[in-house]
Amino acid sequence: MPALPELPRPGEVIDGRYRILEPLGKGARGVVFLAEQVQVGRQVAVKFLHPHVAKDHKYVQRFRREIEIATLFDHPSIVRVYDVGESPSGLPFIVMELLKGQDLSVVMKETPGSYSAERVMELGEQILDGLAEAHSHGVVHRDIKPANLFLVEGSRGESLRILDFGVARLMDPDLTRLTAAGTYTGTPAYMPPEAFLFPDSSGRKTADVYAVGLVLLELLIGRSMMRKASLDQLVIFHLSSPLPMPRRVYESPLGEVIRRATLKHPGDRYQSGEEMLGALREARRKMENFRLEAEEIPPVPKLVATEFFMKLGEVEGEEEKLGLLRRQEQHRVFPEVEAPAAPPPAEVGEARRQGGMYLLAGGVVVVGFVVFVVVVVGVLWWWL
Ligand SMILES: Nc1ncnc2c1ncn2[C@@H]1O[C@H](COP(=O)(O)OP(=O)(O)O)[C@@H](O)[C@H]1O
Ligand SMILES: [Mg+2]
Repeated sequence: MPALPELPRPGEVIDGRYRILEPLGKGARGVVFLAEQVQVGRQVAVKFLHPHVAKDHKYVQRFRREIEIATLFDHPSIVRVYDVGESPSGLPFIVMELLKGQDLSVVMKETPGSYSAERVMELGEQILDGLAEAHSHGVVHRDIKPANLFLVEGSRGESLRILDFGVARLMDPDLTRLTAAGTYTGTPAYMPPEAFLFPDSSGRKTADVYAVGLVLLELLIGRSMMRKASLDQLVIFHLSSPLPMPRRVYESPLGEVIRRATLKHPGDRYQSGEEMLGALREARRKMENFRLEAEEIPPVPKLVATEFFMKLGEVEGEEEKLGLLRRQEQHRVFPEVEAPAAPPPAEVGEARRQGGMYLLAGGVVVVGFVVFVVVVVGVLWWWL
């Protein structure tokens, strides 16, 4: 069996151009290093395909496509790609702008706590601005999640970059063959319901819209919605459970945007990053800032498989199955407000009778008063 290609070691110079310094982070497919571009002395980030997946032809092809797609963009919300190449051991790599800060999955873990609505909307606009650009090139990201959103600390405040177009899909039919039909892509915690039913549907813009809605809600509540959930729990969560929303969020213009983005039927959501961006900007104009208190944050939802899954097995055809999604409860407000208990029927009758009597008594008093005034005025008129 051929040996695995090795990752470069710190100090090694790749291609005579990039001196590898230290690891910065890793994901499921890649390992990212801090490096120095020796000729110009600038620091960059170099992402290599992880050796464990480098022997898999499918991953190599996807990595090459990530390169192809990432170089399409020149946008402040999308990480900039400078160069590409292959290491001496045969690992493909991408050279990117070095980002200073942390991705949102690390931020949420290391500094837990909810974000203010204003900050969430600011970050949301940046994510959606980048997504709108990608969507306009016919590219769907398909793996929007906190680990692929990088919070950059700059001298002029924070800004956000979308990373990792590793499972992105070009909607051009000639270029979609790489993601073979029937394979799941993305991260189950942020995948929309339809992607579990019809894997190909993760290639639609509405899949990115759903993931952004979920990320914005998570930033508001300060933690991931489905912490440590297993795959079957995630399936139940996305397909059949209402998304819990703090009442203050639900009732705000921002909540309205999140609600629409996370509807279970893809046809009911915003249809693109651009459409959601427009709605978020509009909501921001109407919003008063707030930050949730601990007691307003919903607990991790309890999941139970309902008869929905039985029905799902009984119907055929994409539209029928999606129709079932639409009939599921979409969102649940936390804390739920108890509806005032309706009085029992006997009391209703009693209350009505009492109401009628009060009305009669009121009428008698008014008529009596008018008669009294007429009589007094009449007597006085006759007397004087
Ligand atoms: N340009 C960069 N500058 C600094 N850190 C980065 C950069 N790109 C990626 N990272 C870090 O490395 C992690 C993995 O990168 P990513 O491109 O998402 O790889 P994967 O495809 O394996 O998920 C990111 O979550 C982030 O923390
Ligand atoms: Mg990643």
